[in-house]
Amino acid sequence: MSVVYLVNQYSTEAELTEEWRAAMARHLPEMAFQVWPDEVSDLEQVRYALVWKPDAGVLCRFPNLRFIQSLGAGVDHLRSDGALPQGVPILRMTEDGLTRSVTECALLAVLALHRDLPLYLERQARQEWLQDTPKIAPMRKVCVFGLGPIGRSVATRLADLGFVVSGWSRTDKQFDSRVRVRHGEETLKAALQESEIALLLLPDTAATRNLFNAERLAWLPRGAYLVNLGRGAILDESALLAALESGQIASAWLDVYHKEPLPQGHAFWSHPRVVMMPHIAGITYVETAAQAVAEQIKRAERGEPLTNYAADSASRTP
Ligand code: GLV
Repeated sequence: MSVVYLVNQYSTEAELTEEWRAAMARHLPEMAFQVWPDEVSDLEQVRYALVWKPDAGVLCRFPNLRFIQSLGAGVDHLRSDGALPQGVPILRMTEDGLTRSVTECALLAVLALHRDLPLYLERQARQEWLQDTPKIAPMRKVCVFGLGPIGRSVATRLADLGFVVSGWSRTDKQFDSRVRVRHGEETLKAALQESEIALLLLPDTAATRNLFNAERLAWLPRGAYLVNLGRGAILDESALLAALESGQIASAWLDVYHKEPLPQGHAFWSHPRVVMMPHIAGITYVETAAQAVAEQIKRAERGEPLTNYAADSASRTP
């Protein structure tokens, strides 16, 4: 039996592949690790697939797959594959390195907007010395939209810093008595109304696409701040630009976009009140990730329930 490593975006990064090979050998020495396509001779031997942006139709060539493990937190990169094998669970990457990485970026973004960094950078460019009295964390309401392992880590750290933290998710997820959690679409308005800083960490699914459109951005308090570290598709970019223009949103911190890389000339590149990062908030770290994947494989081998379940390939919902 074997694990197949099926990674498109990084296919030229031989070094990363070798890192994965070595880390998986440390955690699961008895399991062969084969890089697609060169090293796979017997498709029936393959039980587990580690994937990032695999070519459409490839995964259904392995008849004995027990699960498909995304190498990132998101599983939306599998959506374009109309021929995923039926009924094979798809696991999202949940690993300590990735959670820490997004948490650090979220804290950076929230603190920067909370203390008006874009405004002070504009003033610096104009050599303008102007002192406003800043709010401190207990005066600031932050809402985290998306309460998976990453959202919960971010919300907990923000509460540690003293922010007034709430959270919103599609299903009920209570996890910390300091964080008021709302769930379900009927509570979205109330959650947005109390988001001086709205921090988006939702995945791209049929239910979240364009969730933050013009109507919903108008529910934020005037002059709110917006951070999107989830997926570009959940936010209407034209509506965001209009909200920045009208002052409904004071400034935004973005890591993800509808089209990546963000096209040259896009308004975000030069917008004075947008801080942009090139989709690097959350990176998967091989050592911790290999440990997390090995844990799932061991569970599957022992017949125990898998965790980190994102979707079932038969349900076609990723
Ligand atoms: C990054 O966006 C990921 O899905 O891990």
